[in-house]
Amino acid sequence: MLRIENLEKRYQTGDLALKSVNLEVPKGQVMALIGPSGAGKSTLIRCVNRLVEPTAGKVFLGDLELAHLGSSALRRARTRMGMIFQEYALVERLSVMENVLSGRLGYVGFWRSYLRKFPQSDIDEAFNLLQRVGLDHMADKRADELSGGQRQRVGICRALIQNPDLLLVDEPTASLDPKTSRQIMRLICELCEERQLAAIINIHDVLLAQMFTRRIVGLQLGAIVYDGPPDQLSPDVLTQIYGEEDWEATIEATKDLDEDEADVLAVAEKVIGRPGAPS
Ligand SMILES: Nc1ncnc2c1ncn2[C@@H]1O[C@H](COP(=O)(O)OP(=O)(O)O)[C@@H](O)[C@H]1O
Ligand SMILES: [Mg+2]
Repeated sequence: MLRIENLEKRYQTGDLALKSVNLEVPKGQVMALIGPSGAGKSTLIRCVNRLVEPTAGKVFLGDLELAHLGSSALRRARTRMGMIFQEYALVERLSVMENVLSGRLGYVGFWRSYLRKFPQSDIDEAFNLLQRVGLDHMADKRADELSGGQRQRVGICRALIQNPDLLLVDEPTASLDPKTSRQIMRLICELCEERQLAAIINIHDVLLAQMFTRRIVGLQLGAIVYDGPPDQLSPDVLTQIYGEEDWEATIEATKDLDEDEADVLAVAEKVIGRPGAPS
């Protein structure tokens, strides 16, 4: 579904944020991109939808190469890539329903949504999505009346109403408490499974990545240093990615997560803190 070849990004400041990244994400696969703040996670997914222009390399969505598309072809391609943001990026004074419907316009033009009228079929689909994430009773509420978890559910619906092939998710839980973070991660992964979506989820929290995804890619200073299953992330690899920590504790904590994951995680977070969290 997504293929990235020798992707490089140097910002005008001179920062080399991505160094020849190669990555393939097949249809239906949810992949976590981990790494500390500044590793290049946001730059990578933004180069995919060209919110950031790559300096070199190629990005293919299916057979379509994205790097040289003109603006209208790029707009069409972007409708195939849903994006979910850390800070939700909702329009505060619009209703939940209107925020979801704005996804129909693509995330670049969502602020224009309140000038538009939407067909009944779009409204029905938005309602179905809100129902799926448990927010149908909130459709008429203003976005600024919602909790963080509810706001992110709206952000998820807005991305999905595009009916995308690929989801690009940037730190979806960074503004949420631990319990809500797990609920949101679970919801995103379930929806990807239901719809057979490919997804890249940027997340600095190793525990969450390990709990919910079967493939983890570790980014350090713009280069991929790990690509494999969650249970093979060794303390050495984690140290390489994040620096010194007592990673044995993290790995122990993730072994039996199914039963009492909430309790185990709460304890693990007390013991080791949240890896990569800004201090
Ligand atoms: N707009 C920008 N201009 C200049 N440098 C940037 C810009 N955005 C990010 N960077 C730099 O690129 C590197 C990667 O940043 P980013 O992709 O935001 O990492 P992450 O999402 O993993 O925290 C960092 O060194 C950061 O300072
Ligand atoms: Mg980031």
